[in-house]
Amino acid sequence: MDRQELTAVILAAGKGTRMRSSRPKVLHQICGRYMLEHVLYAAQEAGVNQQIVVVGHQGETIKQEIHFPVEYVNQYEQLGTGHAVMQAREKLRNFRGSLLVLCGDTPMLTADTLRHLWQVHQKGNAAATILTAVLPDATGYGRIVRQESGSVCKIVEQRDATLEEKRINEINTGTYCFDGACLLEALDQLTPENDQGEYYLTDVIEIFVRKGLKVQAFPASDPVEVKGVNNRVQLAESEAVLRERVCKKLMLQGVSIMDIACTYIDMDVKIGQDTIVYPGVLLEGQTEIGENCIIGPQTRIVDSFIGDGVEIMQSFIRQAQIGSHNTIGPYAYVRPGTQTAEAVKIGGFVEVKKSSIGKGSKVPHLSYVGDTKIGEDVNIGAGTIVCNYDGKNKYQTVVEDGAFIGSNSNLVAPVVVGKDAVTAAGSTITKNVPMEALGIARNRQTNIEDWVKRRK
Ligand code: UD1
Ligand code: CA
Repeated sequence: MDRQELTAVILAAGKGTRMRSSRPKVLHQICGRYMLEHVLYAAQEAGVNQQIVVVGHQGETIKQEIHFPVEYVNQYEQLGTGHAVMQAREKLRNFRGSLLVLCGDTPMLTADTLRHLWQVHQKGNAAATILTAVLPDATGYGRIVRQESGSVCKIVEQRDATLEEKRINEINTGTYCFDGACLLEALDQLTPENDQGEYYLTDVIEIFVRKGLKVQAFPASDPVEVKGVNNRVQLAESEAVLRERVCKKLMLQGVSIMDIACTYIDMDVKIGQDTIVYPGVLLEGQTEIGENCIIGPQTRIVDSFIGDGVEIMQSFIRQAQIGSHNTIGPYAYVRPGTQTAEAVKIGGFVEVKKSSIGKGSKVPHLSYVGDTKIGEDVNIGAGTIVCNYDGKNKYQTVVEDGAFIGSNSNLVAPVVVGKDAVTAAGSTITKNVPMEALGIARNRQTNIEDWVKRRK
């Protein structure tokens, strides 16, 4: 079988009214990717080497937000699916390969199915191969009308169908593989003579049949895959399907996931072997987690790198780099620009922002650490606050290797606590503490004898 050129035309000009959204339908996200991106990735993986997206409603927004090697054509008025494909005609001039026509709102469609569709199309030497599905309830879809011999003779839309045709339960999914040249020729012959006054792409099937060209139907092995998303209920349903796929793929790669139904992992997230994911975990964006970690329960990690053997409980981490063998949480808030070395502890109710923490250092309890550079083997006592902000500017704090910050210290930035230095509990440190010194900044305790007795 000759390997032909494969181009995809993706229809995404429709308004998506039923989403009730100010955003274009295809820019709603599912597992960290736009709906349209799911389709583009599937087509790319199936072997497509050129993708043309037809945009109309909020086309500019789509062009801005989709970062994918595609070409765009505009459909200024939405005069039907046939009219949408016509907009790509210029870009397809002299095109001689196969053409996949896809919809931007079918995020569950897999590369495997598209690859099969293309193979069946090529093997059959067909002018058109329609991806179909057999549904218990076909209401609303175009129906596949077959001759007695079983060969496809046309697609009829629900609103144009006779009673008998409405009983057909094999539907047009809106995904097709065409011979490029045959399709381009047939597009010129479309007329808007139907109930909606639109140029129906589906009418090319009848045109092919009349010309004696071969039309095939290829039923999808899993009808769930071809479902479109028209409203937010279907958005959530397709998210559940994709989420399950992501989790199962990771599980087969050696990740333990306790409860798929309570685990939310984006498409691009990577997780190493023998890591265990507890329920209530959200792993988002470009997140990478190492081997042998324990993540969760109730933890959200966004755009972060987590090393090997890390334990994170009930915490929120965003844009951070966490070294190996750290323990984080419960209830830690790790904010952008945080970087930790190996064997660091960030304990309960600790917030860290734009700070680096050296090997073996600990911030075990109830602290705020911001704009701070902490060296190795430092202990930050419970309740320590770095005062990094004076209401106008932010300042740096440095705590050098081996320093010991007493509980409930305030470190007023800019300030340096030197190597192996100690600050006394309850101190408000406003001046640098030299190496190996004790910084103490609090009133001495006085006890007033018999004070209670005298008060009575
Ligand atoms: C279409 C098919 C129908 C099929 C169904 C599957 C036609 C005439 N009918 O119906 O047989 O069962 O899909 O979901 O093709 N679009 C444009 N420009 C337009 C019109 C539509 O870009 O002028 C895009 C939409 O954004 C959408 C896709 O084409 O992504 C399908 O359009 P839609 O209106 O949902 O088609 P249906 O009428 O549902
Ligand atoms: Ca539709």
